[in-house]
Amino acid sequence: MNPTVTPAPGPLLPYATFPPDFRWGVATSSYQIEGAATEDGRTPSIWDTFCRVPGAVRDGDHGDVACDHYHRMPQDVALIKSLGVDSYRFSVAWPRVQPGGRGPANPAGLAFYDRLTDELLAAGIAPWVTLYHWDLPQELEDAGGWPNRDTAYRFADYAMLVFDKLADRVDTFTTLNEPWCSAWLGYQIGVHAPGRRDFGAAISAVHHLLLGHGLATQRMRAAQTRPHTYGITLNMGTADPATDAPADRDAARRADGMGLRIYLDPLRHGRYPEDMVADIAAQGSAFPVRDGDLEIISTPFDVLGVNFYFGQDFSGTDENGNTVDGDGLPVVRQVFPGTARTAMDWPITPERFTQLLVRLHRDYPGLPLVITENGAAFDDRPDDENFVRDDDRTAYLAEHIAAVAAAREQGADVRGYFAWSLMDNFEWAEGYAKRFGIVHVDYTTQKRTPKQSALWYRDAINRDRGR
Ligand code: FCB
Repeated sequence: MNPTVTPAPGPLLPYATFPPDFRWGVATSSYQIEGAATEDGRTPSIWDTFCRVPGAVRDGDHGDVACDHYHRMPQDVALIKSLGVDSYRFSVAWPRVQPGGRGPANPAGLAFYDRLTDELLAAGIAPWVTLYHWDLPQELEDAGGWPNRDTAYRFADYAMLVFDKLADRVDTFTTLNEPWCSAWLGYQIGVHAPGRRDFGAAISAVHHLLLGHGLATQRMRAAQTRPHTYGITLNMGTADPATDAPADRDAARRADGMGLRIYLDPLRHGRYPEDMVADIAAQGSAFPVRDGDLEIISTPFDVLGVNFYFGQDFSGTDENGNTVDGDGLPVVRQVFPGTARTAMDWPITPERFTQLLVRLHRDYPGLPLVITENGAAFDDRPDDENFVRDDDRTAYLAEHIAAVAAAREQGADVRGYFAWSLMDNFEWAEGYAKRFGIVHVDYTTQKRTPKQSALWYRDAINRDRGR
């Protein structure tokens, strides 16, 4: 912490709303912070490859160095501790632990996560492991990637390498981060690695990601020698119709189906939603389901990680009033509610956060929720000492934590909150241009400086804890 800075009081959290065992944390992911891309046997992931495609990532940025966390890990754990949080969500880089995506573990790669776990526990911080945050070994993409069924089995093998090493000390293992992004942005829209544009491939990727989750969860649970918390993280917004018109209501149904129900229905109810199966069939595709797959996918798990950034409305007509697009498909056009936006141009919609959490509680009951990501990018302006007085980000966090409290009051079983992100990092297709950190990173010197929002978050947690 910068001792010369006194945090502005900032908004208070709703008093005494959160129970004593509510988790407070910060989150990161491997490719976004680690750097050391070729060290200790790590092989390229699809993101190393994608970053080399001209025009794929803003300014030609890549994660070769990122926040250099691989070399600065002990100091970064001390930084996390200084924020007063009790939990840290990080992801494990598959090509570090199992270069090439097959075969035995790479001891040097695993050793990094072993040291990180020990360092966290020594600091009194609970590690929360994400097994896959998008860094698929390139060799597995060359063999077909997530549209290829075998990748699900490769993922379960890799998960066991991590589990065998860390399960004696780590309580929570989550399988995937945001499979919607892997499948949709990676294989349909092509703006994320591996940059493919193929609807059928994206639908196959959805199924094999979910299958990989189920296989890994089953194998970890079968091998456990003490109870663990298993889960998966989904990114979810809200999809409301822009007006009451039937076309808008149908567009919202489709958006909700593709964004949320095609993941949560198989995970929780063991079936894909019928309306989506029909819509996808109308586009000439189908989930490649084999006998027994849905039993594997719906294997019980203990916590749903919720990543929330914003909610949206949907319209079934385009700007010219058409209800079908050039391919003859129904228009599903996103309409952003309200006017306040972040630097990502995402709308600021805390009330939709409450709406989502209450809806999850209603439609998928009996599943504890933890907010595994929530936060915002703004155009930070550091002063001469690199201090960022980010009242905008502070307000965003305060409003969204209040939205969680409101959802809890309405019955949603939310048990924790992780701010995205611990520090500024490689924001995928946006490179280093968008800053989500509550800690500022000077990428020239790698100096970390907590922003106003970090000081506020620390004080808010302390107040909540009665410290
Ligand atoms: C989520 C990702 C995370 C980060 C935030 C801003 O979709 O899981 O890595 O990029 O968005």
